[in-house]
Amino acid sequence: MATNMVTIVKIFTCFIMAVSVQRTLADTCIGTSNVCFNYHNSSHNMLVQLVNIEIATSYFYQIYGHYFDRSDVALPGMYQYFLRESLHERTHADNIIRYINKRGGRPTFTNIHIREICDALENSEFCEHIISNKDLGSLNTTVHKTALWALQDALTLEKLVTDMLTRIINDDDHQLSHYIEHEYLDEQINTIKRLGSFIGQLEKFSDSGYAVGQYVIDRVLGEYVQNTFLMNQKRASNADVASHYQWDRQAENYDSLYIG
Ligand SMILES: [Fe+2]
Repeated sequence: MATNMVTIVKIFTCFIMAVSVQRTLADTCIGTSNVCFNYHNSSHNMLVQLVNIEIATSYFYQIYGHYFDRSDVALPGMYQYFLRESLHERTHADNIIRYINKRGGRPTFTNIHIREICDALENSEFCEHIISNKDLGSLNTTVHKTALWALQDALTLEKLVTDMLTRIINDDDHQLSHYIEHEYLDEQINTIKRLGSFIGQLEKFSDSGYAVGQYVIDRVLGEYVQNTFLMNQKRASNADVASHYQWDRQAENYDSLYIG
């Protein structure tokens, strides 16, 4: 009889759980998705925010990249680096949207408030200069450290993305945590390190030597982009796991070769 009571309590608990799961599903999965399971509003909202941050970052990188292609700016390495990173961020956004669909969520999209984001960046006047063709003359410096400023802004944006990723990981959705950690977190840390090192190298040059330093770093960046681009092409033609592992290690080697 005692065993029966335990069984009854267990079954009752299952009903309670079933009811609470149904409530959660109703709260979480908009529409009639049949794949939604243990996918909570808090995770969904953060993923949607992340998509919008990735798209905004991609847009920024695209704008910054084309700035460096101007004939009066002419830093081809910066141009290539930012254009490549822009595509990279766009791919991240696409992948996260696909993930939301996979979990039964529905992504929503917001405006990109580019001016407000510019205002929040460390080099807001430089950002304004790029997006509105505003004169750099008002800046309190005679040396226009455009490469340094752009990389510093990129570092800020990458830290913002990483912060969002960490929040999502801490939201107690194990599959989502696994996905974010596996697909994004290592890459973010490597990107932050890469940007930090390029910034560190540029900061070593005094005002009088900055132009030469910027020229050198721009050449290094261009070479870095070319090599990693070729590497990714080879990687795409080698789909097996061992090759992926090998190319990941090679990517790390390129990072250490160019930035220490
Ligand atoms: Fe990203």
